Amino acid sequence: MVEFSHTPVMLNEALNGLNIKPDGVYLDGTLGGGGHSREILAGLSLAGRLFAVDRDADAINNAGQNLNDERVTLIRGNFSEVLDNPRDYFGSDILFDGMLFDLGVSSHQLDTMERGFSFKGDNPIDMRMDQSSEFSAKEIVNEWPYEELKRIFYTYGEERYAPQIAKRIVEARDREPITTTLQLTNLLKSHPKRVYQALRIATNDELGSLERMLERLPDRLAIGGRAVIISFHSLEDRLVKNAFKNSAKLGVITKHPVTPGEMELASNPRSGSAKLRVAERIQEQWNKQTPQEKSN
Ligand SMILES: C[S@@+](CC[C@H](N)C(=O)[O-])C[C@H]1O[C@@H](n2cnc3c(N)ncnc32)[C@H](O)[C@@H]1O
Repeated sequence: MVEFSHTPVMLNEALNGLNIKPDGVYLDGTLGGGGHSREILAGLSLAGRLFAVDRDADAINNAGQNLNDERVTLIRGNFSEVLDNPRDYFGSDILFDGMLFDLGVSSHQLDTMERGFSFKGDNPIDMRMDQSSEFSAKEIVNEWPYEELKRIFYTYGEERYAPQIAKRIVEARDREPITTTLQLTNLLKSHPKRVYQALRIATNDELGSLERMLERLPDRLAIGGRAVIISFHSLEDRLVKNAFKNSAKLGVITKHPVTPGEMELASNPRSGSAKLRVAERIQEQWNKQTPQEKSN
């Protein structure tokens, strides 16, 4: 297995946002390489608890070795389903003092060539974060209609040549199935990154999971509990911003998104597009403005 290394993005900012209570109960919804989880754990007393979730079996297996601590419970699953069915996953209707979600793909997923996330090398087109899912990027590339390919390349990849690329893919797959990353990358010519990003987001329904998680999140926080979300795509950040602003149960702590400092930007290129937002669960206010009033 490729060594599990992932430099946690905006670690200090995330910990500040969580404002950890040593005896509290915490959720890391995106365990990955466990960098954030380890630091959350370091802030907890022996009475504290950490639940760490990932849909990727590699992340869970790695943490089984490196995050072996009585206070930690590892859960393999999609964070939206976990928040939707707390009794199934946590054994009770637990309320959290803090939750962290560091969205997107881990360095381990990108660097493990056979997972097919990377446009480098020649591997099966895959990109599933959850290895047990029956749907991979190969189905999208070979089966989705031209219009759908164009849409995801535009919206998820922000690729201005989306129509040309979608057309090239449809023509190529009429000749023979596109099964490897080398075949795909050759069709994309000079800028494969945006198309790979779009395929990854679509394969894993990343925006759908985020939307469902944001709906459930306020009800799973204890009063005074904090939610910290780090996103890497403008569509994700907009969903987070609006969900925080429009919930009568949340107070927004970060008026503007927090972004990485210069040192981090220089040392970790992956942090480049990161935006961090924090909200706190509040007592519901009966006189709180409607979402429409708030957006004015
Ligand atoms: C950016 S990495 C997290 C890195 C981690 N914070 C660290 O410090 O190592 C994102 C992780 O979240 C997982 N993930 C993404 N979407 C998910 C979802 N909807 N449910 C559960 N895990 C998800 C991915 O599999 C990946 O391992």
